[in-house]
Amino acid sequence: MARLLVTGGAGFIGSNFVHHVVEHTDHTVTVLDKLTYAGNESSLAGLPEDRVRLVKGDIADADLVDTLFADTDAVVHYAAESHNDNSLNDPRPFLDTNIVGTYTLLEAARKHGTRFHHISTDEVYGDLELDDPARFTENTPYNPSSPYSSTKAGSDLLVRAWVRSFGVQATISNCSNNYGPYQHVEKFIPRQITNVIRGIRPKLYGAGENVRDWIHADDHSSAVLTILDKGQIGETYLIGADGEKDNKTVVELILTLMGESPDAYDHVTDRPGHDMRYAIDSTKLRTELGWAPQYRDFDAGLAATIDWYKANEAWWAPAKDGVEAFYASKGQ
Ligand code: NAD
Ligand code: DAU
Repeated sequence: MARLLVTGGAGFIGSNFVHHVVEHTDHTVTVLDKLTYAGNESSLAGLPEDRVRLVKGDIADADLVDTLFADTDAVVHYAAESHNDNSLNDPRPFLDTNIVGTYTLLEAARKHGTRFHHISTDEVYGDLELDDPARFTENTPYNPSSPYSSTKAGSDLLVRAWVRSFGVQATISNCSNNYGPYQHVEKFIPRQITNVIRGIRPKLYGAGENVRDWIHADDHSSAVLTILDKGQIGETYLIGADGEKDNKTVVELILTLMGESPDAYDHVTDRPGHDMRYAIDSTKLRTELGWAPQYRDFDAGLAATIDWYKANEAWWAPAKDGVEAFYASKGQ
């Protein structure tokens, strides 16, 4: 049994991880979350109070972080500003949280000697051409495109430097696009599902040829637990489940699964600097640590996700109108 500190544990992937930890381990969890627009306390509803507690606070608050690290065996760091479109609108919070916040946590890990796992993204590697047979590996050079991905790349480099310079006991994982329950309606899949529920036509950026490599959030969680358990300090592991699909295919699938015509969507203004394709080669994680994804059927996982959004309108409805007003102001 370990005492975990999970930053960003009220967000999409962090809350899925907390549910996974409660179900599959006997660890206790302290969630440190600022509860920004993206954090939602109700994503942790129903979890046992003797296993999970929520502390509302900022990862850049050094005094608070120091106090929490004093009672922690291992930290899993999910907290971030996570949305590319927001980073194009106002990059500042991305620097504050993703860079300064990560720096603050690393300093506490250095002081307390705490095991630290840093959650990152495949976007640090930039993008691939559609016809490129290559996929990202741990050796792909960093080449981020957006304010979001450049701050995540910066945070990864801070972690590497704190390992080498100060001996911090850290690992890093870079994962591809997650889907599943508790994802904010600003993101692609929940936006289109909730659009269809609301009778709004789904919105596809540009031609919709961009490819994302989808993985279920629960598979991301099992991979992170595997790295915490067996990962080598100082190493980076890529997490992916061979889920490449172009956006047009995903929108058509959502419409079909929801009983609508597959062409009942609109093309809208493209994202500036829009990355074309992400693709993960997770051989290292699979062969060295023995991890494998469980959600191998994307259609079934997507259908279950649609059912979750249908059953949990009270969870997402408060954010929906504001998100659509923001996108409308951008022609999206
Ligand atoms: P999210 O936006 O849904 O959640 C982020 C959480 O962090 C929220 O609960 C928010 O309140 C909290 N937070 C933000 N700033 C904070 C601060 N200063 N102090 C404390 N808490 C703060 O994000 P997500 O999609 O769940 O992503 C989680 C992590 O996983 C991020 O680091 C992201 O870069 C990474 N990631 C995401 C994906 C994906 O597909 N969504 C894929 C790979 C990696
Ligand atoms: O690859 C991992 C990354 O995946 C994470 O690091 C990010 O935190 C996460 O947000 C996600 O980034 P993307 O930019 O790929 O995700 P998003 O859901 O914003 O968009 C997915 C694709 O869908 C992308 O090509 C843009 C497109 N899109 C998005 C929206 C919101 C649309 O076509 N229409 C939309 O309405």
